[in-house]
Amino acid sequence: MPASPNPLWDIPTRVFHWLIVCCLPIAWWSAEEERFDVHQWTGYTVLVLVSSRILWGFIGSRHSRFTDFVVGPARLGAYLRGQGGRSAGHNPLGGWSVLLLLSLLLAQAISGLFNSDDVLFSGPLYYWADSDFRDAMGLVHDLAFNGLLALVCLHIFAVFYHQFKLKEKLLQAMLHGSALGRIGTEAPAPWWWAVIVVLLIGLALWWGLLQAPQSSLNW
Ligand code: HEM
Ligand code: HEM
Repeated sequence: MPASPNPLWDIPTRVFHWLIVCCLPIAWWSAEEERFDVHQWTGYTVLVLVSSRILWGFIGSRHSRFTDFVVGPARLGAYLRGQGGRSAGHNPLGGWSVLLLLSLLLAQAISGLFNSDDVLFSGPLYYWADSDFRDAMGLVHDLAFNGLLALVCLHIFAVFYHQFKLKEKLLQAMLHGSALGRIGTEAPAPWWWAVIVVLLIGLALWWGLLQAPQSSLNW
């Protein structure tokens, strides 16, 4: 029986990706419907997932690491001029878009912690900040979401372009780990490291938010 190939995308990277994909529409819907009970828990989930993915970018499998896909301007320029060689994982432009997507998701989730609907619901760090900072975070929450919407549309367009025009099996690899022409070059990091990362980040968030003052009277 042939040995199965090393995955290009390890299990944690795929789980982080598809869970984030599920969370964003729920976060959007729940904000529109003012279901802030659902909204805050979806937001916390995104915060833990994105923070874990960022840490996984340092300790995860080869192609999930930032060092594998974040390249300097020279290599990015060469890629844009069609001169770069093929990379196994994210291409140089894709690598930067991943970084931007993760940063926007993080900004969105963190700014939400300071946000309020000015009626019934306040994020857990609302009373921790002064009003200028809250206003700034409210603006970040608005702008980051518009940025995310634009970038996600571009992301899906780029994935479809590579998938259907250039005939690269991106979707199969993001679903199954590897696919024809999309194979990892090293054995994956143990998936249970990611479970520990998620648990530690979840616990740190829970503990950190418990320390926050509950209302302005607690100052
Ligand atoms: C909510 C919207 C989405 C967000 C925020 C998002 C974000 C991301 C991120 C951060 C990555 C990098 C994966 C990593 O290294 O961790 C990625 C890769 C990928 N995403 Fe998405 N994604 C979204 C929606 C989608 C959808 C709807 C599809 C399918 C149509 C998709 C298909 C892919 C594929 C195939 C890759 C791998 C690209 C490659 O091979 O370089 N994404 N996405
Ligand atoms: C990545 C995760 C999140 C996404 C995608 C998201 C998305 C949104 C969107 C689209 C809106 C409506 C636009 C606006 O008024 O700004 C909104 C509003 C809001 N979000 Fe989030 N959010 C996230 C995380 C959070 C978190 C963690 C909290 C707090 C626990 C939070 C609290 C709020 C509040 C209080 C509002 C109402 C703001 C207002 O009425 O002006 N959000 N969010």
